[in-house]
Amino acid sequence: MDERATRTDGGREEATAGDLGFELLLRYLGSHFGLDFKQYKPNYLKRRIGVRMRATGCGDYLQYRQYVRQHPEEYGRLINDLTINVTEFFRDPDVYEVLRSRVIPEIIDYKKKIGSYNLRAWSAGCATGEEPYSLSILFLEATAGRNTQTPWMLRITATDLDDKALKAAREGFYESVKLLPGIDLRRYFDQEGNGYRVKEEVKRPVRFLLLDLMHKPPLRHLDLILCRNVLIYFERKKQAKILDIFSRCLREGGFLVLGKSETIVGPEGSSFKPYRRKERIYVRT
Ligand SMILES: C[S@@+](CC[C@H](N)C(=O)[O-])C[C@H]1O[C@@H](n2cnc3c(N)ncnc32)[C@H](O)[C@@H]1O
Repeated sequence: MDERATRTDGGREEATAGDLGFELLLRYLGSHFGLDFKQYKPNYLKRRIGVRMRATGCGDYLQYRQYVRQHPEEYGRLINDLTINVTEFFRDPDVYEVLRSRVIPEIIDYKKKIGSYNLRAWSAGCATGEEPYSLSILFLEATAGRNTQTPWMLRITATDLDDKALKAAREGFYESVKLLPGIDLRRYFDQEGNGYRVKEEVKRPVRFLLLDLMHKPPLRHLDLILCRNVLIYFERKKQAKILDIFSRCLREGGFLVLGKSETIVGPEGSSFKPYRRKERIYVRT
C-alpha cells in the first residue's frame, strides 16, 4: 500500500504524494458521504483503508478514490472495516460489578430523593447491542420490586455509526451470552435454536439510533453515559469535542464510563472528576 511504499523508499517527494493522495481521498469521502474521516487517528485510518485497498487491488490512495467513485457500494464496506464491532455482554465484569453495586444504587437513591422516577442512559458506540442490553438488565435488577406504586421509567438510547451492527442489535439474538454472577439467564433471555433472544422486557427500554458521535444527540439530564472502547479511535481534539458533548448531555452528578484503556485528560476533562479510576468511571461536576 501507499504508506508502506513511501516508507521503504524514504523519498520526501513520494511521502508528500502519498500524504496528498490520502488527503484527497478523505476529502472525497467526506464530501460525498458526509462522514468526517479526519476525526479518526491517521494511522488507524491508514491501516483500515489499507485493508480495503488490498481487497480491491488498488495500489495507492488515488486509485482507491477512483475505485470508490466507480463502485459507491465500496463505501459501505470501508465503513464496516472502520467500525470494529467487537463487544460482549458485561464486558469487563469488574466495571459492571461497580455499576451494579455502587453507581446504579446511587442514581436510584438520587432519583428517589428528587422524586423523579425516570432513569436515562446513553450507550454511545453500542455496536451490536450487548452493552445497552447489559445496562437494561442491571437497571431491571435494581428496580425490580422496589416500588410498585410508582414504576420506574427506564430509557436507554443506544447509538452507533454502523447500521449493520444496529440491525443486529435490534434483532437482539446472540449465540453466546455471559452474565454477571447472580443474574438468571432465563429471566432475561429466551433460548432459540442455538442461541438466545433478549426478552421484550429488556428490549423495550432501549432505543437504537444511527448517530455519528461528532453530532450532538437531543439528550439532556442523563444519569449515565457508557462510551467504551470508542474514544481510542479518535484524534485528541475530537475526543475533547465528544467529552464536551457528554458533559452537556449529563446532569450534574451523572456518571460517564469509558473503556479500560481510555482516560480523560486535559482541560476538556475539567467537567469530570474520577469516581473509580481503575474502572474508568467519572462523575460530571
Ligand atoms: C469496539 S466497539 C465498542 C462496543 C462497546 N461500546 C463495547 O465497549 O463493548 C466500537 C464501536 O464504535 C462505533 N463507532 C466508531 N466510530 C464511530 C462514530 N464516529 N460514531 C459512532 N459510533 C462509532 C463502531 O461502529 C463500533 O460499533
